[in-house]
Amino acid sequence: MVKKVLISGSSGFVGFHISKLLLDSNYQVTGIDSMNNYYDTKLKKLRLKKLQGFKRFNFHKNDLSNFNSVSQIFKKEKPDIVIHLAAQAGVRFSKINPKSYVDSNLTAFSNIIENVRYSKIKLIYASSSSVYGKQKKFPLAEDIQLNPQSFYGLTKKFNEDIADFYSKEFNLGIIGLRFFTVYGPFGRPDMAYFKFSKNISNDLPITVYNNALMSRDMTYIDDICDGILKSTDFECLDHQVFNLGNNKPIKLARMISFIENYFGKKAILKFENSEDEVQKTLADLTKSREILKYEPETLFEDGMTNFLSWYSTYKDK
Ligand SMILES: NC(=O)c1ccc[n+]([C@@H]2O[C@H](COP(=O)([O-])OP(=O)(O)OC[C@H]3O[C@@H](n4cnc5c(N)ncnc54)[C@H](O)[C@@H]3O)[C@@H](O)[C@H]2O)c1
Repeated sequence: MVKKVLISGSSGFVGFHISKLLLDSNYQVTGIDSMNNYYDTKLKKLRLKKLQGFKRFNFHKNDLSNFNSVSQIFKKEKPDIVIHLAAQAGVRFSKINPKSYVDSNLTAFSNIIENVRYSKIKLIYASSSSVYGKQKKFPLAEDIQLNPQSFYGLTKKFNEDIADFYSKEFNLGIIGLRFFTVYGPFGRPDMAYFKFSKNISNDLPITVYNNALMSRDMTYIDDICDGILKSTDFECLDHQVFNLGNNKPIKLARMISFIENYFGKKAILKFENSEDEVQKTLADLTKSREILKYEPETLFEDGMTNFLSWYSTYKDK
């Protein structure tokens, strides 16, 4: 059984939840996070504070793009397994500041995998549905031709290519998880469901792209954590990539009306067209179900209610 887990991006949305789940299950967790200000650091500090309530949690505030400091942490902590979640996320921001994606998604990934290479331990890392880009056929299976549309998606695809090379060349077991639009309590303020909730509850306009005709395979955070946990149990001898999605696409219009109903308010809509957004995402879960025994359970209505009730208490703080 895994004892010591190194989690990068532990003050981030997914990193916080999986750290908490592992700490609740008696694992020892070392977190690393740069606590950068891509979004409100108040939320990152709040997540970190909750994790610091556990004795079995220790934390390094560190930028993973610095190779020497990453190596020192590996030497000191000697983890049994690494869950690499730290990244510069966001499709739109990658157009504005691609350099931050090179630092946090390429250099940082290379620094992690190089240390994994010498430690000979298992690596699980976050990829993204963004690697698929524009596609015509759905659902999206892991082995189709990738066509990333954003620089963000490109960096995630490059992570997968690097992982493939390292796994073959150095005989490492590596698992890449393609997350599909993760949502839930303590979520990311830059994501549509969070921004819409904030603005609708405050009677502010929301920017809606492409006539609200887009849909996303929204996946609740507990299901994602369950998929990560199952990946820690799966004995992987090469490099394997799995979709972690929900297989039930949610139309943007449905998300908006759910939030409107929750707050009893009407959204003020500002329509814009955007080439950056793909029309649809939908995960094929055949491989994840078969190999990882991954089975998402959370209905969109239940997950969104959990998020909105958390958000209602958080926004007043
Ligand atoms: N949330 C989603 O819907 C989603 C979807 C697909 C993929 N992903 C991927 O899942 C992972 C976790 O995403 P998230 O939603 O929790 O994002 P997040 O932004 O909340 O968390 C990422 C964390 O990494 C940290 N970080 C960034 N660059 C760093 C660096 N150079 N050194 C150290 N720490 C650094 C940030 O401070 C942040 O706390 C990311 O790799 C992301 O690309 C997320």
